[in-house]
Amino acid sequence: NIVPVILSGGSGTRLWPVSRPERPKQLLPLTADETMLQLTAVRTQGFASASVGRPILVSNAAHADIIDEQLKQSGIDEYSVILEPIGRNTAPAIALAALEAQPADALLVMPSDHVIDDLPAFHDAIARALPLVAKGWLVTFGITPNGPETGYGYIQMGETCGDGVHEVARFVEKPDVANAQRMLAEGNHAWNAGIFLFRADAYLTAMEKHQPDMLANVQTAMAGAKRDGAHIFPGAMAFHACPSDSVDYAIMERETQVACVPVSMGWSDVGSWDSLHAVSTRCTDENAVRGDALLLGARNCLVHSDGPRVTLVDVDDLIVVVSQGEIMILKRGESQKVRKVTEAIKAIA
Ligand code: GDD
Ligand code: MG
Repeated sequence: NIVPVILSGGSGTRLWPVSRPERPKQLLPLTADETMLQLTAVRTQGFASASVGRPILVSNAAHADIIDEQLKQSGIDEYSVILEPIGRNTAPAIALAALEAQPADALLVMPSDHVIDDLPAFHDAIARALPLVAKGWLVTFGITPNGPETGYGYIQMGETCGDGVHEVARFVEKPDVANAQRMLAEGNHAWNAGIFLFRADAYLTAMEKHQPDMLANVQTAMAGAKRDGAHIFPGAMAFHACPSDSVDYAIMERETQVACVPVSMGWSDVGSWDSLHAVSTRCTDENAVRGDALLLGARNCLVHSDGPRVTLVDVDDLIVVVSQGEIMILKRGESQKVRKVTEAIKAIA
């Protein structure tokens, strides 16, 4: 039985000013009419290779109502949502879900901020992963890299250990540019898609081995959880006391029984304005007249406005965002720096 675990607690600071704490990127329609969360939830419905249980969402308590509304709108009525009193990053978030699921459930951990264009390819990769998952392996999905990205995890692929599945020789989370370039040159590396498949009990065993403090706090939080319909509220004191870390650093880099399924599925991470630029059809027009943009000889520009029309004449490689009373203009390629904007604004507030 596959149980989708949808992680939706990130803050999406690199997509400011559209993504804000009260409605972060995963709850916004960025690449389609549906929000990133809705696209993710719908993507987990129906697999040929296995039966799928009701999804478990893990999210910030502040977003409970928006999540209910969005899932209802997508026709998903059967789900649970674990509402964190505070973000402790992905390792504890997944542990909450692992304790809520049955030990033998195969958890399909899905971030809520990705685009996957080729759904059959994704489902096929999951089918290839299942035999190893049954044996207790932690399975990752590997994307062919197309540049020395420093915002991703890198997987060095080792020996074949199944049909189209490799042992992970090494997992390196978010390397610096020099290391990323070296791994690309070596050639046998993939990007970690951030999607995982493992049995709930296998994850908890790995956590017991590598993060016993984290596990103890999460266990106490779930033992004291309050329930109200689909909503699950872990005990706040224990969860506050839980150390914060990502599954990549806390578990994947340390665990040895890790496998990788290389998959080509039109994947992209919608983490920054540059990655949104890359998946957007809006930036190909040199000359365009739209409600929000008038482009006259504007090459490789992306305009996103919630009101005023933006006119660009004879400029190249700009990203212009107008949202909720803020205007941001940035050079293409520099959007990782947007993370600093929210910090700078906090400092002057
Ligand atoms: N519930 C909950 N609580 N969810 C969280 C929390 C939290 O505290 N923090 C992050 N998330 C959610 C985010 O909303 C997102 O959907 C997912 O977990 C992954 O977190 P990110 O913060 O987006 O991770 P990342 O993009 O820096 O890195 C991960 O994804 C990359 C691919 O996109 C890593 O797994 C990398 O190795 C990977 O390459
Ligand atoms: Mg991400």
